[in-house]
Amino acid sequence: MAEPNLLTELAATLYGTDPYRKPDIYLNEYGRLFEPLRSLPIRLLELGVHRGASINLWERYFPLATIVGLDGEAKPVSFPTSERCHFVHGAQDSVHLLDQAVAVAGGPFDIIIDDCSHLGCHTARSFAHLFKNRLNPGGIYIIEDICTAFTSGHGWDAAPFDPPQIGLPGMLQVFPSHQNGMIGLIKQLLDHSQAPTAAGAYTEYPIERLTVLTNFAILHKAKRT
Ligand SMILES: C[S@@+](CC[C@H](N)C(=O)[O-])C[C@H]1O[C@@H](n2cnc3c(N)ncnc32)[C@H](O)[C@@H]1O
Repeated sequence: MAEPNLLTELAATLYGTDPYRKPDIYLNEYGRLFEPLRSLPIRLLELGVHRGASINLWERYFPLATIVGLDGEAKPVSFPTSERCHFVHGAQDSVHLLDQAVAVAGGPFDIIIDDCSHLGCHTARSFAHLFKNRLNPGGIYIIEDICTAFTSGHGWDAAPFDPPQIGLPGMLQVFPSHQNGMIGLIKQLLDHSQAPTAAGAYTEYPIERLTVLTNFAILHKAKRT
């Protein structure tokens, strides 16, 4: 049952019958999470644009934000024409393009949403490049649709296959079968989030809080490392 909030109301208008509509469980959480940032001149990056519905959603929800959308497909016709919105064309794990996204935004991001390939290796590479220096301290990094790791039809990211290991730099592969795909990535990030207690300091991924909900994960970057 949808809780009424501006994001679900906007989604009803903007997505129409688009099958990639963000579920209400995401939008209800984002409503709580993003409300304090609504009227600030933040920078937001979304990996995965598709027909442009979510970029239009963020443009309307954050009236002062600079918004960048990246996709391997061409810019959709419905992409906002506002000067606050920018499109980057290409692969989500190209470090060159991720740096281009930072450049067109004018600096590091405050919110990054990965709604792109939903494959662990791409998601891990994007995270590894963006989280440390391209997300502001206190910033929010969201990884959507982590349950692709449990479904067939997503190639080597799917559980029934023997996928290549995604490995974040410096992580031991203790339980290989548990460290693959989207869920494997989230498990590795959980280990990083415990580093201040376990090892006395943050790792290269200073994760202050990791929240895992049904099918998506929210990572808060530490304000100070
Ligand atoms: C779920 S859709 C994005 C939906 C959009 N965020 C929304 O809510 O309207 C995923 C998008 O990711 C793009 N994509 C998939 N794999 C990609 C990759 N490796 N690099 C860049 N884009 C990719 C697809 O072209 C598709 O448009």
